[in-house]
Amino acid sequence: MVAMHELFTLPKAELHLHIEGTLEPELVFALARRNKLNVPFPDVESLREAYRFDDLVSFLTLYYSCMDVLRTEEDFADLVTAYADRAAAQGVRHVEMFFDPQAHTSRGIPLDVVMAGLTTGVERAQAAHGMSTGLIACFLRDRPVVEAHETLEGLAPYADTLLGVGLDSAEVGYPPSLFTDVFRDARDLGLRVVAHAGEEGPPSYVWEALDVLGVERVDHGVRVLEDDALVRRMALDRMPLTVCPLSNVRLRVVPDVASHSLPALLSAGLVATVNSDDPAYFGGYVGDNFVALARDLGIDRDGSALLARNSFLASFLEEDRRKELL
Ligand code: ADE
Ligand code: ZN
Repeated sequence: MVAMHELFTLPKAELHLHIEGTLEPELVFALARRNKLNVPFPDVESLREAYRFDDLVSFLTLYYSCMDVLRTEEDFADLVTAYADRAAAQGVRHVEMFFDPQAHTSRGIPLDVVMAGLTTGVERAQAAHGMSTGLIACFLRDRPVVEAHETLEGLAPYADTLLGVGLDSAEVGYPPSLFTDVFRDARDLGLRVVAHAGEEGPPSYVWEALDVLGVERVDHGVRVLEDDALVRRMALDRMPLTVCPLSNVRLRVVPDVASHSLPALLSAGLVATVNSDDPAYFGGYVGDNFVALARDLGIDRDGSALLARNSFLASFLEEDRRKELL
């Protein structure tokens, strides 16, 4: 079996990472102390114990509640720094990082605080690790569509700082087509577009993400295998998927890594990539996902190299930097 250190040093891009999902219990308590806030858990161990989920919605409840400790520019910068230090140690050379503006503005944190903190964090990641970064602002699909429009208006002055927009949060019952106009406006601002689809939602949501929102990458998308025509279409278009194996296990999309459909996605000719999603909550960073695939699915050295190569091909990197990293 390919050694863990080889999988950690294999250069890779991470394309599906929610920065708020990198909030480790230790950092929750440290930020709560700094901001003089109470954590509704007695200690780090009991909070970590609560990181057990039945499905996406049960995870999101804890995910949004832990974010309450993120208050200042420095908090957001420190969050990015903590992620970048861990990710660099697992071979991440480039990250396209999601953040959830509405999860902060809805609790009174101004967008400029969030943007300033994230920007400081990514500058530090570049300086410390030579890690390149793109920021992708996600709309929360289970909040009113009008709020997504307002959020995009708030983001417009930062269009040059942002790489793109995405769509996340509770999926079932919130089809991508609800956000047709917001995504059109985002594309008009020159932003790249991606969306979570086919994590818990049906293949029809993936069709909508492609045909109605015009996404350039599908986040998760593991349910595409239920629809042969969709698989053919995505293979033909070389439409990438950002797959998150440990997340899928923890959110019970699949029973275990050994039964994950990643090999079937690759055999179907799809450009699949491996990512960590919310690593603090799901038991591992991106290198840990590669290790789990090697151990439980027998993905060998060549398979891991293909997945790492796919991560650069599926990224929105400028060609010069892509060539440098490939
Ligand atoms: N927000 C953070 N992680 C998410 C996931 N896996 N799916 C949808 N929304 C999310
Ligand atoms: Zn996600």
